[in-house]
Amino acid sequence: MSHHFLIFFFIVLSFSNLEFTKSQHPKQQIISSFSISNSSWTPTKNQILLSPNSTFAAGFLPLPSLPNLYTFSVWYYGITKNHITVVWTANDNFPVNDSASLVIKPSGELTLSSSPSGRNLWPSGPVSKATNTTKLILEENGNLVFGDWESFAYPTNTILPNQNITGTVLATKNGKFQFLNCKRLVYKGSPEYYWNTDNAFQKLDDKGKISQENFATFISSDFGDQKPRRLNLDEDGNLRLYSYDQSLDQWTTVWQAMFNLCMIKGKCGANAICIYETSNSSTSCECPPGFRKNSSDSCERKTPLTDLKNSKFFRLDYVNFTGGSNSLLIQNLRLSDCQAKCLAEYNCLGFQFKYDGNNICILLLERLDYGFWSPGYETAMFLKVDNSETDENSEFIGMTTLMETACPIRIKLPLPPEESRATTRNILIISTVFAAELISGVLFFWAFLKKYIKYRDMARTFGLEVMPAGGPKRFSYTELRDATKDFADFIGKGGFGDVYKGTLSDGRVVAVKSLKNVTGGDAGFWAELTIIARMHHLNLVRLWGFCTEKGKRLLVYEYVPNGSLDKFLFQKHWINSDLVESPDMEQEMGERKPILDWNMRYRIALGVARAIAYLHEECLEWVLHCDIKPENILLGDDFCPKVSDFGLAKLKKKEDIMSKSRIRGTRGYLAPEWVRPEPITSKSDVYSFGLVLLEIVAGKRNFDHKNSNVDSAEFFFPSWAFDKVFKEMNVDDILDQRIKHSYDSHAHFDMVNRMVKTAMWCLQDRAENRPTMGKVAKMLEGTVEITEPKKPTLFFLGHDDE
Ligand SMILES: *[C@@H]1O[C@H](CO)[C@@H](O)[C@H](O)[C@H]1NC(C)=O
Ligand SMILES: *[C@@H]1O[C@H](CO)[C@@H](O)[C@H](O)[C@H]1NC(C)=O
Ligand SMILES: *[C@@H]1O[C@H](CO)[C@@H](O)[C@H](O)[C@H]1NC(C)=O
Ligand SMILES: *[C@@H]1O[C@H](CO)[C@@H](O)[C@H](O)[C@H]1NC(C)=O
Ligand SMILES: *[C@@H]1O[C@H](CO)[C@@H](O)[C@H](O)[C@H]1NC(C)=O
Ligand SMILES: *[C@@H]1O[C@H](CO)[C@@H](O)[C@H](O)[C@H]1NC(C)=O
Ligand SMILES: *[C@@H]1O[C@H](CO)[C@@H](O)[C@H](O)[C@H]1NC(C)=O
Ligand SMILES: *[C@@H]1O[C@H](CO)[C@@H](O)[C@H](O)[C@H]1NC(C)=O
Repeated sequence: MSHHFLIFFFIVLSFSNLEFTKSQHPKQQIISSFSISNSSWTPTKNQILLSPNSTFAAGFLPLPSLPNLYTFSVWYYGITKNHITVVWTANDNFPVNDSASLVIKPSGELTLSSSPSGRNLWPSGPVSKATNTTKLILEENGNLVFGDWESFAYPTNTILPNQNITGTVLATKNGKFQFLNCKRLVYKGSPEYYWNTDNAFQKLDDKGKISQENFATFISSDFGDQKPRRLNLDEDGNLRLYSYDQSLDQWTTVWQAMFNLCMIKGKCGANAICIYETSNSSTSCECPPGFRKNSSDSCERKTPLTDLKNSKFFRLDYVNFTGGSNSLLIQNLRLSDCQAKCLAEYNCLGFQFKYDGNNICILLLERLDYGFWSPGYETAMFLKVDNSETDENSEFIGMTTLMETACPIRIKLPLPPEESRATTRNILIISTVFAAELISGVLFFWAFLKKYIKYRDMARTFGLEVMPAGGPKRFSYTELRDATKDFADFIGKGGFGDVYKGTLSDGRVVAVKSLKNVTGGDAGFWAELTIIARMHHLNLVRLWGFCTEKGKRLLVYEYVPNGSLDKFLFQKHWINSDLVESPDMEQEMGERKPILDWNMRYRIALGVARAIAYLHEECLEWVLHCDIKPENILLGDDFCPKVSDFGLAKLKKKEDIMSKSRIRGTRGYLAPEWVRPEPITSKSDVYSFGLVLLEIVAGKRNFDHKNSNVDSAEFFFPSWAFDKVFKEMNVDDILDQRIKHSYDSHAHFDMVNRMVKTAMWCLQDRAENRPTMGKVAKMLEGTVEITEPKKPTLFFLGHDDE
């Protein structure tokens, strides 16, 4: 269940319910117009009307499921080799057979009838001006035109570039979903929308921009290139923009309205809870405890509620139901009172309770609709069930414990002592024991508060705040100059530019990164940032906005107070490290950082793995990190890891990253394929993560081991560590010397062992042998078994002095 941790959004690679295999059309007759002088057009004539440059075609298309029934449709003709992508249909709900015909009557009226005497199925409109000389033609943009009539005015579920959408409605074929007023997505029986934009859509262009009212826009992830595109209200209720990728010969999603498909109303039926499967972007409908399935998407009670006195409540974590209009919100009610109220009402099926200052109690009456699971919900759901029900094996109960590793409790770590080695050791043991005591003591206290705080924090960090239309906020240069007091507070040098601390006028503390040498135009830059800003994950640094003005490119990130992981891991090696670039070196040298204990290290490893898995899996491969190293792992005030600089690699070329890394001396975090004629894929990130994982365990840079006990030019720490773990079965030698003595094989063995073994899998020489990042996270979690991998042998660490 832990993948639900990465709940919410993201994206089907290619959603294509409109496509079906092109059937064989022997001797297809191609026409350029259809007029009154032609006799009737029947399906058996096997003719198609092409646009001038053959981008689109129109004609009778057999249904994929029932090939002797037809619809009169327009489809993309010239592009996909294997599929027909329908973009408009005259008679979606009334497919016709061989006896149908399209005719232009002597009166000038265009009609489509299922039989000579059948009624007209053509979407009619103002045909008054049509004369017996009017022709049916297909324009190059896909618009089917007959006099004043045009198919663009009667869209079905697709909008094409340059189509005026104002005043039109899109609907899915199954009739369940609509895009109303070019603004909101609604589920038929529901008065409420499930997606809404303040500024109605006006037009899509072939570069991937959706213009809206008030000059707002949505921009596709591949904005800028002129390609075949289409905006589709898909059968699953999501509105997606697709562009045609010629090299793959398929449509790819480049923008979409809904990220978490479970938030689409009507996904699941009565009483069911929708769960979004992030690994394959699918949804499933599950029953709450006390219920069983009565159809694929709805549930019924096992034991009907009969007696008011004979019922109790199950608390479901992260579940939200709405009773539709049948819910009753009461402010300032204690939990017990809320519960009593629901118990007293026969038609109350459960309630939601919000643990904030307002103690909001929402009674759900009569129906439990649109249930879904999302760790972003601030409220707890209490479901009324018969007393005899048990909550055994319900996945919705006790889920909070799964979140445990996400972010730790607020504790202070012990500072590393300065004394001699012996005392160091004692103090370390004492302080670690003390820390352990502290943690367990604190845990009890937090058991009370945690639930409440977690709900609140998670709602924030899981990013349920909706992105404003048009993407991240655009700041003015003056705003950022004021926020940073004219870039006075320099806090570091990242891979892509200098970083300054600042405070926005609304009080938010931010890190402002001034990008250097970024290629691409303003629009492309914006498009990339829109994607980066959409990445919401507890373990990713949030991008709040940007500024492109006066030739400057600035990014505004959340400020992460504790700095980067390297400062905690490699304190002893400050002088040797390549971080001497920092002008604050002297100051930071003097500043001792606490030593991270094993639990902390494990949480950091897991958090980073999850964040990168999220980038890889949930966001397609749009966002490879390409620069995973301790410097890019920032630590929040709870030592919650936050990965920074993700997505920026897309703004640079591969060679730039390569040479840049060498110059900068980011030694040894690149996968072997960087120097081989092989593509850089998400598996390259897995390799880098493996190296970081080893360093987290060893507390030392991998290349620094060269100078230690085993001294050889051929010494490759991962290979050596491999033998220790899999051959000698002795992890101890790998562990960070500074906290080695606090290592308790009983308490820590499993955790540390998993970290090292996972690292070995990540460090496989060949990319295809490495697990995906999602699998890596599972290995760390301990939810999959870790077998013995091949020994990593590639020596690709210390090339800095070449
Ligand atoms: C209809 O007639 C026009 C001119 O007579 C011709 O160019 C066109 O191909 C015909 N179309 C069909 C469907 O026969
Ligand atoms: C068709 O293609 C030609 C050559 O590429 C181009 O010049 C012409 O403008 C196109 N016509 C339309 C209607 O797009
Ligand atoms: C075709 O459809 C028409 C009208 O729906 C019907 O009258 C006719 O029997 C059908 N013909 C065949 C061959 O199924
Ligand atoms: C069009 O219709 C008018 C009368 O409705 C008729 O006089 C004329 O000849 C027709 N033209 C053609 C091309 O059929
Ligand atoms: C788009 O259509 C609407 C309604 O039909 C119309 O008012 C508007 O002028 C059209 N816009 C353009 C640019 O054609
Ligand atoms: C998605 O993954 C889940 C769990 O791995 C599986 O149960 C489900 O069948 C998958 N769905 C699809 C559509 O592949
Ligand atoms: C399943 O049970 C629910 C709730 O009792 C009911 O609304 C729904 O119609 C049932 N569905 C089927 C297919 O029986
Ligand atoms: C439950 O979901 C609905 C619809 O998405 C939302 O309006 C409501 O605020 C949610 N309830 C809570 C308590 O978060």
